Amino acid sequence: MNRDDFPMLNNNNIIYFDNGATTLKPKCVIDAVNNYYTNHTSNIHRGDYDAAIDTNKKYDEVRHLVSDFINCDPNSVIYTSGATMSLNMVVFGYMKKHLKTGDEVLLNKAEHASNILPWIHLQEEIGIVIKYVPLNDDYSLTLDNIKKMVTPKTRVISLAHISNVIGDIRDIESIGKFAHDNNILFNVDGAQSVPHIKIDFKNSNIDFLSFSSHKMCGPTGVGILVGKYELLEKMDPIFYGGGMNNFFEEDSSYELKSIPTRFEAGTPPIAEVIGLGEAIKYLKNIGMDNIHNYELKLRNYFLEKVKDIDNIIIYNKNANSGIIIFNIEGVFAQDTSLYLNHYKIAVRAGNHCSKMLKDEINIRNTVRVSFYFYNTYEEIDKLIEALKMSKDIFKVVL
Ligand code: ALA
Repeated sequence: MNRDDFPMLNNNNIIYFDNGATTLKPKCVIDAVNNYYTNHTSNIHRGDYDAAIDTNKKYDEVRHLVSDFINCDPNSVIYTSGATMSLNMVVFGYMKKHLKTGDEVLLNKAEHASNILPWIHLQEEIGIVIKYVPLNDDYSLTLDNIKKMVTPKTRVISLAHISNVIGDIRDIESIGKFAHDNNILFNVDGAQSVPHIKIDFKNSNIDFLSFSSHKMCGPTGVGILVGKYELLEKMDPIFYGGGMNNFFEEDSSYELKSIPTRFEAGTPPIAEVIGLGEAIKYLKNIGMDNIHNYELKLRNYFLEKVKDIDNIIIYNKNANSGIIIFNIEGVFAQDTSLYLNHYKIAVRAGNHCSKMLKDEINIRNTVRVSFYFYNTYEEIDKLIEALKMSKDIFKVVL
C-alpha cells in the first residue's frame, strides 16, 4: 500500500516497524520541505515581498487542514515543536494559572513521560495532587476505572488517546462527556492516535489536544496544540518574543497578538509546518478508517502467526491498535532488537518512555513493533521467521 511513495523504503531495504517512535516520510512531504528551501524561503508574518506573502499563505493554510482533519476551530490550532511542547504548554501555560493546592489531577501509569513529568513538576510548584487511575488486568484504561478515582476535588483528567506501549484505544468520547458533565478539564495526548485513527476534537469534548507531525508522515520539529478557544484566551504563553506582540513600552506595558499567534514566539518551523500540511493531505487521501482497519489486520496476522512460536510472551493481546509489545522468554529486550537489526528489522526496545508502567506489568523492558499503513504481511512473515530462528540469538548478537 503506497510503498513507492516512501524513498526510505526503496533506498534502504529496511523493514520498518518502529512507527510509534517516528514514521517514514512520503515524497510529497520531502518535496514540500525542499520546495520551501529551494523556491520560497522567507520568514512569515513579517515580509511584504512575493516570497513572504506566498509563505504566509502556505503556513496559515495548514491550520485549516488541521481543523478539517480533526474537527476543530482553525483559530485554536497552535504550532509547537511537538507533542511534548504542547503538553508542557497546557500544564505551565494554563493549569499552573488555574489550579491550586489540593486540586486533583487523574493520570495513569501507562502514560508517556510527557504526560507525567510536567504534572510532577507542577505538583512540586503549586501542590496539586496526582492520582493514578488503576489499569484493568489487560492494562487498558476505561471510564469505569476513572470514575472510581473521581472526587469533588478532581479538576483534570489527562491521558493518551492511545497508549504508546499498551496500544489500547481509550474511549475518549465517553470519557470526554463524563469530564464535561462533571466540570473536569479533559487533556488528551493524541501523539499515537491522530496519525492512526479518526479523531473528533469538538464531539469528544476535549479541552486540549496535543500531537506531533513526525509520527504522522510529517517532518520532525513541529507539533500541534489545539485548545478550546475560551480556554486558550485564559492561557499564558510560555515563550515571549518577536511575532507574538503588538507593542511593548518603557513603562513595561505590552499587548499580545490574538490567538493563536500569541503562542508562537520567534521564527517558527516554517518548512516543517508546510510539510505537515502535505502529510495531512496524504493521510486524508488514504482515509483514516482504512489506515486503522489495515493496521488491525496486520496486528491480527502477526498475533496468529506468532502463536506457532512457543517462547514469545505477548503483553497486550487485547489492544486494538498497531502496537504490540513482547519479549522472547529469558532474553533482554534490547538483545532482541539488536538481533532483529541483523535482519534489517527496526523495532524499539526498552521502557518506551513510560517508566511507571513496570509497576503494572511487572517488567521493565519490552520489544515494541508498531505498524503503519505501508507495512505488509510479507514483512511480518520475515519478522516471524527471524523470531523462529531466535534460538541462536546470542550467536548473532554477541
Ligand atoms: N514517544 C515515542 C515512542 O513511543 C518516541 O517511541
